[in-house]
Amino acid sequence: MICSVINYKGGVGKTTVTANIAAQLAREGNKVLLVDLDPQTNLTFSFIRVDEWKRDYQDRTIKRWYDSFIDSDQELHLQDLVIRPFRVNERLREMNSSGSIDLISSHLGLINVDLELSAKLWGGSERSNRRNFLFVYSRLKEGLKQLEAQNYDYIFIDCPPNFNVVTKTAIVASDTLLIPARPDYLSTIGIEQLQRHAKELVFEYNNKLEKDDLGTEFERIAPTLAGVVFTMVEKRRGEPISALRQYIEQVINQEIPAFETVVRENKTVFSDAPELGVPVVLQRLSGDTYRSIQTELKELTEEFEERLSNGGSL
Ligand SMILES: Nc1ncnc2c1ncn2[C@@H]1O[C@H](COP(=O)(O)OP(=O)(O)OP(=O)(O)O)[C@@H](O)[C@H]1O
Ligand SMILES: [Mg+2]
Repeated sequence: MICSVINYKGGVGKTTVTANIAAQLAREGNKVLLVDLDPQTNLTFSFIRVDEWKRDYQDRTIKRWYDSFIDSDQELHLQDLVIRPFRVNERLREMNSSGSIDLISSHLGLINVDLELSAKLWGGSERSNRRNFLFVYSRLKEGLKQLEAQNYDYIFIDCPPNFNVVTKTAIVASDTLLIPARPDYLSTIGIEQLQRHAKELVFEYNNKLEKDDLGTEFERIAPTLAGVVFTMVEKRRGEPISALRQYIEQVINQEIPAFETVVRENKTVFSDAPELGVPVVLQRLSGDTYRSIQTELKELTEEFEERLSNGGSL
């Protein structure tokens, strides 16, 4: 199962939600792969120390894989880029879990990849542009499907806050999309736009595929929408405060599936986690607040699994 965590609004909790759902699934015994597609490298540095990355991994990032495609100079396999972050896997072992978390890390230079991929998409005849489109957009999907078949129960792609070519390659690669959002006015508008753009991309991809009768080379895509997860929610007595409920209900009224579980706001708990290299849900914490946040994150993961089995079209 390949899931993109996406929203082109920044700072809505994409990386935090990705890390925690992945960690909880690993604790339940799953083999999980994380792919950091954001040049900000936040997910990467939530698991790997900066000095460690600089020393050992900066030449083994997803940027190199896109570069090898753009330059067509060598065949690089995604498998060669997979690393196993030490701290979180050590914690999983302590918890007697048979699961694991692997990571394909990102690189600041991924910013330029978008421009170069765009250039690859244009400039030829209509027919060759169509082929280029399918090649560019299907490549991550092919690579990840192969990795999944060999090694993984779940693959999560943490997307950057935009809708550029790299983000679109993630949508094409996905079986499902997860949209973290904040319950406020502009975010609510943004979700509807995002859903529409994702639908348009799926339509365009399948349409190009039919035109060229390339059905044997490329598969049609039909990612589902796992739903919108509201994050950084201010709660009172266990419930979102009433000012926020209207935004949550607005999304539900637009017939966009929304998670019942919401992630509450707590800066103290969430801001330290990346430095520790272990997501909040797996940390050794005591106190009522910590416990209830961990319970919330476990419930979020359970609901994610349920929603996967129930389908739900984009
Ligand atoms: N539930 C929460 N309560 C309080 N702070 C949070 C919560 N979730 C995330 N944060 C903090 O908010 C900031 C943004 O979160 P995060 O990086 O997960 O968002 P993002 O959508 O991935 O951002 P970007 O668009 O920049 O990639 C981080 O500093 C994070 O620690
Ligand atoms: Mg992020």
